[in-house]
Parts: sequence; C-alpha cells; structure tokens
Amino acid sequence: MKVLITGGAGFIGSHVAEHFIKQQHDVYVVDNLSSGYRANIPFIDDDHFFHTDIRNYDEIESIIQTHQFDIIIHLAAVVSVVDTVENPEESNDVNISALVHLLELCRKHLSHLKKFIFASSAAVYGNETTLPKSINSHIQPESPYAIQKYSSEQYVKLYHTLYHLPTTSLRFFNVYGPKQDPQSQYSGVLSIMKNCFDHDKTFTFFGDGEQTRDFVYVKDIVQAVQVVLKQQASDGQVYNVGTSQPTSLLAIYKTFVSLYQKEIPVAFADPRDGDVKHSYADIEPLKQLGFLNRYTLQEGLDEYLKFEMNH
Ligand SMILES: NC(=O)c1ccc[n+]([C@@H]2O[C@H](COP(=O)([O-])OP(=O)(O)OC[C@H]3O[C@@H](n4cnc5c(N)ncnc54)[C@H](O)[C@@H]3O)[C@@H](O)[C@H]2O)c1
Repeated sequence: MKVLITGGAGFIGSHVAEHFIKQQHDVYVVDNLSSGYRANIPFIDDDHFFHTDIRNYDEIESIIQTHQFDIIIHLAAVVSVVDTVENPEESNDVNISALVHLLELCRKHLSHLKKFIFASSAAVYGNETTLPKSINSHIQPESPYAIQKYSSEQYVKLYHTLYHLPTTSLRFFNVYGPKQDPQSQYSGVLSIMKNCFDHDKTFTFFGDGEQTRDFVYVKDIVQAVQVVLKQQASDGQVYNVGTSQPTSLLAIYKTFVSLYQKEIPVAFADPRDGDVKHSYADIEPLKQLGFLNRYTLQEGLDEYLKFEMNH
C-alpha cells in the first residue's frame, strides 16, 4: 500500500516509516526538517522524500493527487509548547490550518483512503486532576499547542461524521526512544536525563522528582498505529496511547543508575509553572482493539540505550 507520513523525518515519524518499509509498503515522507533530520530515515530514497512544508498547499495537493495514498499518518507539527505560546498564529497555521487542508484533499482526491491517523497529545487534558486520564476525562487545554491538538482532533472526527473519511486520532502520552533529539530544549525529559548520564552532567529535577508521567516506548506507538489501521471500529474515534503505568522521575533516575551502573550529580529546582504533578493514561479502549504494551520501562530504556550505543 502507499503510505504518506507527514513529519516522517522526526523522532516518532522515522520509527513509523521504518515499520511500514519493513512491511514492504511504498512509503513517502513529507517533512520540512524544522525539527527532524534527513539522516533519521536513510531507508527512504530521495524519490520518496518531499522536503517541503505542509503549508505549501499547491505542492501538497499535487503530491496527493499524483500518488493516491491508501494511508496517511499526520505527525508534522510545531511540537514545542513554548513555540506555540510564542507564535500562536504561525503554529495555528501549521497545527490546525494545514491539517484541515490535508483533510480537504483527502475528501476531494482520495475516495479509496483506508486510514488517516492524526497525532494528538495528552496535553489536551492540561492540569485537570482526575486519574487516570480517560478519553471521557475533562479537557482543559492550557497552551496554544493543546488547543491546536484538541481542535484538530475535532476536525479529524468531523470529517468522519460528515464525509465518512476513515480517520482516527491518537493521544500520545510521554513518548521516548531512539532518535529523540536530546539537543532540543523541548525534548522529552527522558532523553535529557539520558544525555546527562552520557556526559556526566548534572540533571535538574523541577520539584521533588516525585511527579509521575506515563512513559511509552516509541515502538509501542508504532504498534498502536498498526492496531488502529487494522480495525475499522477505530474510524471516527480518539484513543489514548500510553502504558497505564505512572512512573516518577526519581524512579526513572534509579533505572538509569542501574543501567549505566553509575550515579550522576542531581539538583532540585522549583517546580515549573503549570507543570502537572501526576499523569497516566487509561488505555482500555485501545486494548479492546488488540493493543498490548510490548515494552516495560526497563525493556524500553534498555533497547534505547543499546541503540544509541551502536549508532
Ligand atoms: N514525542 C512525544 O512525546 C509526543 C507526545 C504527544 C504528541 N506528539 C506528537 O507526535 C508528532 C510527532 O512528534 P515527534 O516527537 O516525533 O516530534 P519531531 O519534532 O521529532 O517530529 C515532527 C516532525 O514534523 C516536521 N515538521 C514540523 N513542522 C512541519 C511543517 N510545517 N511542514 C513539514 N514538516 C514539518 C519536523 O521537521 C519533524 O520531522 C507531533 O505531532 C507531536 O505533536 C509527540
């Protein structure tokens, strides 16, 4: 099948692309390399790589008309919450308008489309305290990023309701794994901690380190994509993707200590404004489709470290 992955040169996108390549699909990537790297996807040749912005509407339309994709995985986005606060209008264009444009192109040109998957985020729940976060939990977006993800989910759902497009949104929790960019200021906390262990630098906990998150290994994200692709029942739906396990940052630190067999200096700073203390996902609806986490935190971290050592 022909698969288009927007943002396919990024952290998650490169794993999704590799998965589809291994399954012998014909995989195309659209990416402007604003936060991704061409080197993340050496298995995609130049004929399958479009170095362009998803806001280049004419070019995107021509790509979609020409290639008649069966599957579209839409991951391209302004991913930094801080960037969306600083540039709400531009991030709206990327995170909402370009998505609506893509949905319109699917409606107009891809009558045989088998699935459109949109990458949403646990950020939509904000600081609402109910746990676990379920799809029916109260939504409390607290940044342009979260508003943009939630609005996009609504559009994605609406295109199913109005036009029967086979769309699904996945709310990713805290994803970690190989190719996560530790240089990025906004990178996941886990890759930042790993970077500190690699270079014996001080890791700073904001708060007491007891805050919990639902850390999900990137290959389990790929599995979630695969599961919803196969299940028509997922059309028009939104799912959490996590592990259902809250893990504290201190626990992560201890796991790193055991994997690296060393300690590094740590510091404690004031909690960051607006940081939620605890978060983990209710993934029951996804499990009902056949999803089962394949990676414990220990296994995911172990594979992550081994991958980075070999590259
Ligand atoms: N990593 C996480 O923990 C996490 C959690 C929740 C949701 N998400 C969502 O998953 C998706 C992938 O995130 P990621 O962690 O792989 O981030 P990433 O930054 O590694 O990947 C995003 C990719 O999109 C590309 N891109 C950005 N703007 C673009 C544009 N205008 N046109 C074309 N390409 C563009 C970037 O170059 C990059 O390759 C994003 O939509 C993100 O919001 C990620």
